[in-house]
Amino acid sequence: MNLKNDLLLRAAKGESVERTPVWLMRQAGRILPEYRAVRESVSGFIELAQTPELAAEVTIQPVDILGVDAAIIFSDILVIPEAMGLPYEMVEKRGPWFPKTVQSESDLKKLRIADGVDDLSYVIEAIKITKKALNGRVPLIGFAGAPWTIFAYMIEGSGSKTFSKARAMLYTQPDFSHKLLQMITESTINYLKAQIEAGANLVQIFDSWAGILPPDHYEEFSLRYIQQICDAIQEVPKTVFAKGAFFARKEMGQLNCETIGLDWNMGIAESRAMIGPHKTLQGNLDPAALYGSPKEVEAATKRMMDQFRGSRHIANLGHGVYPDIDPEKVKVFIETVKNYQ
Ligand code: CP3
Repeated sequence: MNLKNDLLLRAAKGESVERTPVWLMRQAGRILPEYRAVRESVSGFIELAQTPELAAEVTIQPVDILGVDAAIIFSDILVIPEAMGLPYEMVEKRGPWFPKTVQSESDLKKLRIADGVDDLSYVIEAIKITKKALNGRVPLIGFAGAPWTIFAYMIEGSGSKTFSKARAMLYTQPDFSHKLLQMITESTINYLKAQIEAGANLVQIFDSWAGILPPDHYEEFSLRYIQQICDAIQEVPKTVFAKGAFFARKEMGQLNCETIGLDWNMGIAESRAMIGPHKTLQGNLDPAALYGSPKEVEAATKRMMDQFRGSRHIANLGHGVYPDIDPEKVKVFIETVKNYQ
């Protein structure tokens, strides 16, 4: 199907665009009252994510309501551990929690490499329904967590400030760590390929906990696996967003992907110099900038756009939009990008 708005895909590939495309990480869910209404009609996040018609509905809400140039499928990065045999729960106000974690080789034997189609059929179905309903209005982004970030949750069992159990494992059981990371990587490749087959036009890898590793561990336990994923996916453009990995920008410039996401701590000119001219950069307004007045949001967005001017760019925040941000301010951000000349 031909897309009516393919700005995101052209910008990712470095082709010419009339204007910079814009979307927001975590735009589906979180901020819209329309999302909360749908969520309240079910038992919680997991039921919503596993009901394809509803997942499709909340995926499309930001396209209708906010006017973004892309939809991102409503799901979570933690569906991969579940598909490998490690289910999660989403605890109200606290976030993800795993009743069982992975600590030893014997735990590994209970896990399997996920098959993207059979083990995650509800996501695949949601993508198909979304594509039909979008009817080519904007591209659909598929996604997965980076193996390191998924590993961190599977070992730790929940969110954490330090992920010290997961980080300890890299020092105490490096061989075991590599085995689990390899299983996650293969599961993720299967999953992303299934998303693409179902209609995802671009895929993004979220390495949310990149920034807690020292550079040598980042190279050994994260980048290497992201590289495997990038090498395996040739069908659509790929974006790698590694939050906090300022120390690895040069290496990320060598990845086999089209776009690198920048968080808001990463200087734009400096990142361009380190990453090189051949990648699109995505980002990177401070998500907290949206707490300012509409005039301040507009000014901050223009300052960001000025710094990206003349180079390959997809506009976004430097991380996911915060849950208590006023959707009207998000609209100011989006409109400012769209009207920027
Ligand atoms: O971008 C989108 O809007 C698409 C959907 C999406 C969700 N999670 C839905 C969600 C995406 C892309 C994610 C990615 C995700 N999930 C990441 C990587 C991105 C990042 O923010 O760093 C991570 C680390 C997770 C794990 C996770 N899921 C946490 C820590 C939490 C709880 C707190 C939070 O972030 O909201 C979730 C729950 C979750 N995932 C919600 C949504 C809409 C909130 C659930 C609810 O409605 O109560």
